[in-house]
Amino acid sequence: GQQKLFDALSRPLRDLRMSLTDRCNFRCPYCMPIDEFGPHHAFLRRDELLTTQELVRTARLLVELGVEKIRLTGGEPLLRSEIIDIVGALASLDGVQDMALTTNGSLLTKARAQALADAGLQRVTVSLDALSSHIATRMNGVGFPVDRVLRAVDAALAAGLSPVKVNVVVRRGWNEEEILPIAERFRGTGVIVRFIEYMDVGTSNGWRLEDVVPAAEILRKIGEVHPLEPVPPRVPGEVATRYRYLDGMGEIGVIHSVSHPFCGGCNRLRLTADGELYTCLFATNGKPLKPLLRSGASDEEVRAFLAQVWHHRRDAYSAVRTRETKRIGKVEMSRVGG
Ligand code: GTP
Ligand code: 5AD
Ligand code: SF4
Ligand code: SF4
Repeated sequence: GQQKLFDALSRPLRDLRMSLTDRCNFRCPYCMPIDEFGPHHAFLRRDELLTTQELVRTARLLVELGVEKIRLTGGEPLLRSEIIDIVGALASLDGVQDMALTTNGSLLTKARAQALADAGLQRVTVSLDALSSHIATRMNGVGFPVDRVLRAVDAALAAGLSPVKVNVVVRRGWNEEEILPIAERFRGTGVIVRFIEYMDVGTSNGWRLEDVVPAAEILRKIGEVHPLEPVPPRVPGEVATRYRYLDGMGEIGVIHSVSHPFCGGCNRLRLTADGELYTCLFATNGKPLKPLLRSGASDEEVRAFLAQVWHHRRDAYSAVRTRETKRIGKVEMSRVGG
């Protein structure tokens, strides 16, 4: 970035997470429980979405304000029909050092993975919560077969979208028994598995603290079979804490936002598919950017608005969760993209 921009807690702006759609073809109960996201759920209309041009303009101005990394999310970002154009345009922005996409893998065929790589995408992260078919289908809510998600991981590897990562949301009583098998499935493949503590995102998933399997327990389960040692962060403010197998078989990560919040280094800004800015995954309100974009505002005006949103930011939800767990109206994961 050309300018240095800090928030009210002296945190720099570095990461942009752009949600391309609020829709998803999965119904993971921890994210889009079917009762809340059934056939009558009102998803965003096409005309409510930021256009490719609006997305790219916003990203360009944010890169000028310091953003170095862009992550495309959803819902499921591969449901967005212009995905290849969007990736291509974002990849050509000067100053983007890292561009990645988080997907459920259902639409990541070999051809699609190659097209994304050709358009300039650097890496992908695939969500996969279980290898055992009955647990996996329960966790994706639509009975989507595990082997097709595993094929998506292979497609990403074949297209060189590396390092390919696999995200595992760990939920007590649901998939704890899958932790070791998943770690072992990817040991030695170059794929980095990250185990995520189930978080109280949104208000529809009925989260309870008892549902969380703390990262320490996850590490113990794996480490007692395959000893691990910590690895220093690759970049400042990284979400996952890294570990490597002592026998050289690769790396894993844990995302311990509940047991050990990491808000102190949080450099992430989120943009919803309909153009609202969220300065925290757990925020109750977004800052509307779309009206400004559609009002004919100049680059200077839009940049000043973006800078002011970051400048006033004080969010540290995970760090203060204990006394705020009753807060209602938090944004849903499928809207803000994780
Ligand atoms: P890398 O760029 O590979 O480090 O990926 P990432 O971990 O930043 O992104 P990903 O989309 O894979 O997210 C992994 C998990 O971390 C998801 O459950 C996200 O919701 C969660 N996560 C990402 N950023 C934040 C954050 O700022 N705060 C909290 N509490 N969780 C986050
Ligand atoms: N807690 C933790 N992770 C979650 N994800 C979705 N909902 C939650 C939650 N409540 C994960 C998805 C995806 C990533 C972007 O966020 O599985 O891998
Ligand atoms: Fe879809 Fe991902 Fe949410 Fe599951 S976690 S419902 S795959 S957006
Ligand atoms: Fe950043 Fe909010 Fe997550 Fe803390 S809880 S790390 S401030 S997004």
